[in-house]
Amino acid sequence: MKAIFITTPIYYVNAKPHIGHAYTTVACDVFARFHRMLGHDVKFTTGTDEHGNKIEQIAKKLNKKPQEFVDDISLLFLNLLPALNISNDDFIRTTQLRHKKAVAHFWNKLYGNGYIYLGEYSGWYDMQNEAYFSEDEINDGKSPLGGAIQFMTEPCYFFKLSEFGEKLLKFYDKNPDFIFPLQRRNEVISFVKRGLADLAISRTSFNWGISVPNDPKHVIYVWLDALTNYLTLNGYPENENQSEDAFWQSSHHFVGKEIVRFHAIYWPAFLMAADMPPPKHVVSHGWWLSEGEKMSKSLGNVQDPLKYCALFGSDALRYFLLRELPFGSDGNFSLEGFVNRYNSILSNSYGNLCQRVLSFICKGCDKIIYRPSKLDPCDVEFIDSVKAALASIASLIEQFAFSRYLEQIELAVSAANKYVDAQKPWVLKDSCPQRMQDILFILVEQIYAITKYFWPVIPLAAEKILQQINVPYSLPLSCQDEFPNVVHVNQPEPAFMRIDVSDLGKFDVYSKD
Ligand code: MSP
Repeated sequence: MKAIFITTPIYYVNAKPHIGHAYTTVACDVFARFHRMLGHDVKFTTGTDEHGNKIEQIAKKLNKKPQEFVDDISLLFLNLLPALNISNDDFIRTTQLRHKKAVAHFWNKLYGNGYIYLGEYSGWYDMQNEAYFSEDEINDGKSPLGGAIQFMTEPCYFFKLSEFGEKLLKFYDKNPDFIFPLQRRNEVISFVKRGLADLAISRTSFNWGISVPNDPKHVIYVWLDALTNYLTLNGYPENENQSEDAFWQSSHHFVGKEIVRFHAIYWPAFLMAADMPPPKHVVSHGWWLSEGEKMSKSLGNVQDPLKYCALFGSDALRYFLLRELPFGSDGNFSLEGFVNRYNSILSNSYGNLCQRVLSFICKGCDKIIYRPSKLDPCDVEFIDSVKAALASIASLIEQFAFSRYLEQIELAVSAANKYVDAQKPWVLKDSCPQRMQDILFILVEQIYAITKYFWPVIPLAAEKILQQINVPYSLPLSCQDEFPNVVHVNQPEPAFMRIDVSDLGKFDVYSKD
């Protein structure tokens, strides 16, 4: 059985989860569900990144112990998972003992292999993003990540990143699909070609972190700590030899574009230094703006995924997040855009198709339909058009083309709607009941094929529709050839209620704090 390891970044617990966090998690979930549907052995993980200066400072301001503070916020990220119907297999917190052990072991390995030395660091530090930058990276008094900077000097351990430039370039060359999309790969390569300086990997200016083994004045740099989560989740250090590990060999780290550098440069270098292979893929997505602007508390435009789920259901949010943008590009999250897509595709096109076909079977065929003994040319044409729309769909997911995947499903749905409209089964009830039931069977079989591919994105609605047509739901989903010859239909209920656009102003989708 093919193994696959799918990871979200672990989320900073300095603020409540918003739409941007939901995006990475939903994309991973769809990828995970798709692979489970194919019968693969999936390990899908997420979690929270809980150490660092910033956390220590926020907790202090709130008069809380850092552990108390991170417990509270981590719980918000944990609670978001069932709300979004996320099927993760594990949830890691960097404050867990299993992780602290893994980080200490990893540090000792890097140290033992001669890649860590003690020195002194001076530089521009972006506290918000926990990273140092060189003079030439500073723009308008801000770091390239947009955070405020301050000049700092501290004794510090360094990782010999400068020794990895050539090795990394060779690695990218041998693994052209290591970084997705191509544009990010090119950026990484040119960054490495400009030359890599050694990396400061410990801090003495605060305490909230994992101590450096044998030198507890230092805490381990939060990115070295955080990146190691992927090893912890894969059984490290007990499972030390990741090069033999089937999950590691097909590991997919999904990340936002702003953290590609950490995953595609530092992380493979750390792993190489510890005699381990880099991950298989770093898959990066773009950024959501909110109603046309960068999401920020001060603008009050931070959109709350929990509110979307409560108002419109998790399927609707999952669908919009993946349909609206090509993965990798930036885009705009607006309530209006959300409602338009919901109404036109989920409610009118797909929901309505299922509802009218299934309720007509209940009314017109006594809830039971049989496989037709023969097909008319128009039936074959319709079946072929659905097959054509769904034919290459698996490869689109493999290319992280979620939006195009959904477009193909929509093409199949629209072919089915055209077929119903052209065949008008309801006018045949008295004149030709056999033909009416044949048409309905053909439609249900194609609705099944479409629903199966829709399932990773809208699992709740898809499972509801599969139950309505009494095709037992199991993983991996059976292929179309196994569709039964007799189908008993249950009384359907609409999977998606239409949203009244005139109600838009009434919906509160913003985070309050
Ligand atoms: N803690 C680090 C990751 C460590 S992984 C070893 C971190 N955390 S984060 O909470 O700031 O961001 C996590 C993810 O949320 C990133 O993939 C990021 O791109 C995503 N998003 C946060 N805001 C976003 C948008 N506005 N739009 C899309 N995704 C964004 O970085």
